[in-house]
Amino acid sequence: MALLLASGWLVLAGTVLAQDAFDPLAYVDPLIGASNGGNVFPGASLPYGMAKAVADTNSPSRQGGFTLDGSPVTGFSMMHDSGTGGSPSLGNFALFAYTNCPGGDIDRCVFPKKARAAFGSFRNTSVSAKPGTFGITLDTGIRAEMTTTQHAALFSFTFPSVGADDEPAKPLILQDLTDLADSRQDNASVAVDPTTGRITGSARFLPSFGTGNFVLHFCTDFHGAGVLDSGIFVDSRASTAVQNLTISRSINGYPLPGGAFVRFNSAAEPILVRTATSFISVERACEHAETEIPDFDFTAVSEAATAAWREKMSPIRVSTNKVDGSMLTNFYSGIYRTMINPQNYTGENPLWSSDEPYFDSFYCIWDLFRSQLPLLTITDPTAVTEMIRSLIDTYRHLGWLPDCRMSLSKGYTQGGSNADVVLADAYVKGLQGGINWDDGYAAVVKDAEVEPYDWCCEGRGGLDSWKSLGYIPVQDFDYKGFGTMTRSISRTLEYAYNDFCISQMAEGLGKTSDKEKYLESSGNWQNLFKADQVSTWWNGTQTGFTGFFQPRYLNKTWGYQDPLNCSNLDSFSVCSLQNTGRETFESSIWEYGFFVPHDQASLITLYGGPASFVSRLNYLHDRSITFIGNEPAFLTVFQYHYAGRPALSALRSHFYIPSSFRPTPDGLPGNDDSGAMGAFLAFAMIGLFPNPGQDVYLITPPFFEEVNVTHPLTGRTARVRALGLDPPAYANLYIQSATLDGRPYSRNWLDHSFFTEGKELVLTLGRNESAWGTRVEDLPPSLGKYLGFGAVNGSVARRSAPAGLWKRGADKGGLAGWMDKLGM
Ligand SMILES: *[C@@H]1O[C@H](CO)[C@@H](O)[C@H](O)[C@H]1NC(C)=O
Ligand SMILES: *[C@@H]1O[C@H](CO)[C@@H](O)[C@H](O)[C@H]1NC(C)=O
Ligand SMILES: *[C@@H]1O[C@H](CO)[C@@H](O)[C@H](O)[C@H]1NC(C)=O
Ligand SMILES: *[C@@H]1O[C@H](CO)[C@@H](O)[C@H](O)[C@H]1NC(C)=O
Ligand SMILES: *[C@@H]1O[C@H](CO)[C@@H](O)[C@H](O)[C@H]1NC(C)=O
Ligand SMILES: *[C@@H]1O[C@H](CO)[C@@H](O)[C@H](O)[C@H]1NC(C)=O
Ligand SMILES: *[C@@H]1O[C@H](CO)[C@@H](O)[C@H](O)[C@H]1NC(C)=O
Ligand SMILES: *[C@@H]1O[C@H](CO)[C@@H](O)[C@H](O)[C@H]1NC(C)=O
Ligand SMILES: *[C@@H]1O[C@H](CO)[C@@H](O)[C@H](O)[C@H]1NC(C)=O
Ligand SMILES: *[C@@H]1O[C@H](CO)[C@@H](O)[C@H](O)[C@H]1NC(C)=O
Repeated sequence: MALLLASGWLVLAGTVLAQDAFDPLAYVDPLIGASNGGNVFPGASLPYGMAKAVADTNSPSRQGGFTLDGSPVTGFSMMHDSGTGGSPSLGNFALFAYTNCPGGDIDRCVFPKKARAAFGSFRNTSVSAKPGTFGITLDTGIRAEMTTTQHAALFSFTFPSVGADDEPAKPLILQDLTDLADSRQDNASVAVDPTTGRITGSARFLPSFGTGNFVLHFCTDFHGAGVLDSGIFVDSRASTAVQNLTISRSINGYPLPGGAFVRFNSAAEPILVRTATSFISVERACEHAETEIPDFDFTAVSEAATAAWREKMSPIRVSTNKVDGSMLTNFYSGIYRTMINPQNYTGENPLWSSDEPYFDSFYCIWDLFRSQLPLLTITDPTAVTEMIRSLIDTYRHLGWLPDCRMSLSKGYTQGGSNADVVLADAYVKGLQGGINWDDGYAAVVKDAEVEPYDWCCEGRGGLDSWKSLGYIPVQDFDYKGFGTMTRSISRTLEYAYNDFCISQMAEGLGKTSDKEKYLESSGNWQNLFKADQVSTWWNGTQTGFTGFFQPRYLNKTWGYQDPLNCSNLDSFSVCSLQNTGRETFESSIWEYGFFVPHDQASLITLYGGPASFVSRLNYLHDRSITFIGNEPAFLTVFQYHYAGRPALSALRSHFYIPSSFRPTPDGLPGNDDSGAMGAFLAFAMIGLFPNPGQDVYLITPPFFEEVNVTHPLTGRTARVRALGLDPPAYANLYIQSATLDGRPYSRNWLDHSFFTEGKELVLTLGRNESAWGTRVEDLPPSLGKYLGFGAVNGSVARRSAPAGLWKRGADKGGLAGWMDKLGM
């Protein structure tokens, strides 16, 4: 490149080359979220790949396999989920390696997983993780590198020339009939071919957050050294005299250790291990291995994986000018994590036969609907189209859309039937690509109309009460369907929004009476609003806010739940899926108090008008009642837009980023939940946050001077330019004016055609809050009427911010402190 700087023309060429040389993968760190409960899968995978290879540790937080918390490695396996919060997922059929067995005695190698941990310690600095590859050196001196194709993984083990006993290396590689959660059931089997060393087997396991079980098969081949001998192990003993095994789970809970091993003549060359899995059969697993990795070429496989990632990441280009590198790493790593799960199991579904795509690991839609799937709708609409087709096909064959699904099993529903939101989001954004929208509509209507006998894992509970009373009562009487009778408030709020989503689809499909019907029931949230309810801190101090959602009995009298319980500050209450749980799921009445995504205008009126709505939202964040590490918090960061204060959304987003999202292994505030946290980061930093289920993106300044997003199907590039942005200080966060495709634009939101048609949004920023985006006609759509937004006390009055800005709030909490830091 330096040579090109010789003439003017070549300088230009050099600039172009420099631009093209921009590599988003340089900013991807897969280890973000690998400790401190991020539960991220940091290993090698293709986008949506079924094969996900990594070293597995024995950490209590091993949900994603590998952790960087000092826990030792117990194996190397190729099936994983990412960011999940249930039991550890998958991690089936782990490999492990020894340089030799002391004295050449097989029985002196250590086989059981728990005991292997003693040979699995490693230095953090030995770990290398990049999109498509993962490597680690154990303190035993064994280096393991790994990469993957869609259904197969290739491991390369490099051994020291001598073992711990100073005898020459005769490497042993074992494969264990295990999984991360020790869920293996009865009668797993394994066999090893003494000539080639090929190991095959099958076992039944349990899903990590769901019901039922699944069978997985595998096929493993070796390359690089001659086979010395092979055999099987049971518990801590092994033999070369036996080549196959069917093993009991055993009566002791922990599945009895068992598996096969192969020993090799030498360690002169790295030993390559090619392993593939299949939900169909051992033969299919071997076929995947042979077709996807025919010649054990590690370089070719890893380069193909890297190239696949580079292509997926290429639609999003941001200006790096003046931006702190940690922001870029946060951003691109977040985008990267949105394409790990859901997983593409097309062709690998033994449950029904169909020509439709099959995706698994929707883990869970309660998390995914808010940010991850909407982001993919922009960056990878083809993948979302296939996911929607898969969801609809799941409805066709199992009777219902899932709320959570992993390992071919039904997962637990957390709240509403939120696949309705996913379908509506795709529908209003115009996704087609072979989606049968009539079937999609039938699926969401079934959620609203038919109560399953067991609503643990699909549909909704309490539909009779919902229809007769217009809310889910606390202590409902329901003799038709059965499920955990908690969460009556959060279920009511989510069902109401689900119905709004159905009404939008009905409208688009010309079903007018359905549209009216579901619009009507989308107002049911109001039935749990108790106008005189106050909220008092546990020490007796009033919060000063009145009017909260409350539980309500069948006889319409009110129950009571402290609005602050189940908040971030309450570590006492039981708030998850336990049958002793509360009336809000994993979140407080305070926070659920904002979950009316379709009718913010009416909510603002109930809360006493825009100024008091803003005070309440400030209180929620400043007092840490909300927790950005769980998904219900996401939209609340940006809901100031609905009160005519888009500037406060921008401030709030900088309040959390980067303080709660650092590009380090411990940098995520909670489970990534597939890629939900990553997608939250990406949207917030692009400056267009979705109200999922609606064709609405709320505008805030991006974290970069320029963002280009090229639509993969239309080829058009949407562009946001932030004039006057001043990274890394970000003091100029206030939009003074905007243009869309060159014309003045005062709405504080825009729609999906921005991305499909490749429009250009230019934001002019300044140091003070302005009138931009504050008038009623500038506000995002809402079912009710925006009231109390007087011209004088509304937009015009706001020009005097920010000094007066904080006087409106109930206190001068964390956000004001953050502004002080910036000298504002
Ligand atoms: C690195 O290793 C140490 C000790 O094993 C561990 O405690 C620490 O948390 C690790 N992780 C990081 C990210 O440094
Ligand atoms: C496991 O195999 C044994 C012996 O064939 C059989 O009796 C038992 O029913 C099997 N268990 C399961 C769960 O299939
Ligand atoms: C297991 O090994 C025995 C003895 O060598 C052999 O007869 C049998 O066919 C093998 N079974 C499988 C499934 O490989
Ligand atoms: C965005 O696209 C425009 C038009 O093609 C181009 O001039 C600009 O350099 C791009 N910006 C980035 C950050 O890639
Ligand atoms: C999913 O897998 C199928 C079958 O291998 C493939 O045709 C399709 O392109 C994949 N979809 C995505 C989004 O990668
Ligand atoms: C009670 O707790 C709240 C919330 O932590 C705090 O703001 C308030 O100052 C406390 N009041 C007293 C009297 O300690
Ligand atoms: C309504 O039901 C609740 C719960 O059973 C009960 O505590 C309350 O007294 C009832 N109210 C009336 C008016 O009957
Ligand atoms: C509400 O939370 C507080 C603080 O954790 C706790 O002391 C109180 O017992 C909780 N109330 C209920 C009814 O669980
Ligand atoms: C912006 O706000 C600051 C601090 O309140 C004030 O001193 C300054 O005059 C304002 N600038 C403009 C252009 O209104
Ligand atoms: C604006 O606010 C002032 C002071 O709060 C109030 O007296 C006045 O009536 C309000 N005007 C309108 C149009 O709402």
